Amino acid sequence: MSSADIGVYGLGVMGEAFALNLESRGLKVAVYNRTAEKTRQFIEGKARGRMIYGFTDLKGFVQSLSKPRIIVLFIKAGKPVDDVLADLSGMLDKGDIVMDCGNSHYRDSDRRFAELGSRGTRFLGVGISGGEEGALKGPSMMIGGDFSAYIDAERKVGPAAAIFENSRCISYFGDGGAGHFVKIVHNGIEYAVMQAIAEAYDYLSRAAGYSSLEIGSIFEEWAKGELRSFLLQAAAQVLKYVDPDTQRPLVELIVDEAEQKGTGRWSVEAALELGVAVPTITAAVEQRTLSTQRGLRQITPCPPHASATKRELDEDNTLVRDALRATMLLSYVQGISLLDAGARTYGFRVSEALRVWRAGCIIRSRIVEELYSLLSYAQGEAATVALEKNLALLEELMPNWFGFVAQASSAGIPTPATASALSYYLSIRSRRLPANLIQAVRDYFGSHMFRRLDREGYFHSDWGRKVER
Ligand code: 6PG
Repeated sequence: MSSADIGVYGLGVMGEAFALNLESRGLKVAVYNRTAEKTRQFIEGKARGRMIYGFTDLKGFVQSLSKPRIIVLFIKAGKPVDDVLADLSGMLDKGDIVMDCGNSHYRDSDRRFAELGSRGTRFLGVGISGGEEGALKGPSMMIGGDFSAYIDAERKVGPAAAIFENSRCISYFGDGGAGHFVKIVHNGIEYAVMQAIAEAYDYLSRAAGYSSLEIGSIFEEWAKGELRSFLLQAAAQVLKYVDPDTQRPLVELIVDEAEQKGTGRWSVEAALELGVAVPTITAAVEQRTLSTQRGLRQITPCPPHASATKRELDEDNTLVRDALRATMLLSYVQGISLLDAGARTYGFRVSEALRVWRAGCIIRSRIVEELYSLLSYAQGEAATVALEKNLALLEELMPNWFGFVAQASSAGIPTPATASALSYYLSIRSRRLPANLIQAVRDYFGSHMFRRLDREGYFHSDWGRKVER
């Protein structure tokens, strides 16, 4: 073999799929996995007859690559990435490129960018979205790190990215962890939208008595219109799937405890650190946590009150659909608000994230496409623009959105994401929030001071108390 164009380290589901994708674009791909058996299986299985070359020793893998070398890592985020970078460090030449394609924390990528850069290795932190199918056919790629490395790497990996209207869903977002920051925001939105869909399902199922198959059909219908999105289509397909062993919808046989690997929580932590409100994303993360708190959940088992709405909903289910639409829209707006804050650190254009989210990724949807169109030429804070341009729509959705939260609550169905999105919106459209009282009470017990509407400066009051000194 003449030297390989690119190396893939890590042959899990994503690594294998991406190696096949790269090869299908005409690249010679070297692959390596810590367990040699995995490499052998891949080479003799899916990679058979293709320009994919397996290595069982790391040195041979590195030396097989043309220079500057490009090594794409598909390994578990966290310590494993540092371990592999340490293993590689003595084997790389100045200017070689390492792309970390796991769901790494952006702060880790900031650190690795600096550490590797000081040794002459060009590091790229790459957020990849789209799951196995995306990795195989074309994922969305959010990249941060060394800009010259991006230019070199894009020539090779760019053709493997998803395409939307002739534009590749791959972009550079800035130094260090910028790409992983954008991916974390993506995942926060992913959590919120999934929770909103789950709440619509819960209401239709437990309060209105629809079967899983019926809800699947309703979602399928909705997914043809304004709610067109990968996640709603996925939910529809899942709800309609019947387990061949039991002849029951498989979804009904799944334990109702949602797991998480941490990216949703990281988006909430980033929002807290940056001073951005993302209540719907937070609610979604917390609801996954609550679903696993079995002890707490069993304290007061209480069946929902079936509300006699199925017949009405058969006629008109816009109550649920509009609530979902509003919640989905505001999940994106909250994510955009977090991107606005990230953009101040990393210097990217927020609309660029929406551009690369239009295809290949898990949160691709009509809403993303519309938000991109709104934001691509807009000036100012993207979240503000996104909200202003959607005010009329949100007002129109309001009665059903409110009605859904009220009806679900009275039927005993929790709607943390939908209700938090509604509160978020109500807060935004309130000319005055009761934060004045909070300021007053802070000053009352702690002399924390407050600002006044009628005068400049900070003030303290004794609030009519006789202060004993
Ligand atoms: C993607 C997904 C992907 C993964 C999530 C799952 O964009 O392809 O976000 O990266 O499915 O990380 O995260 P949880 O296990 O936390 O749900």
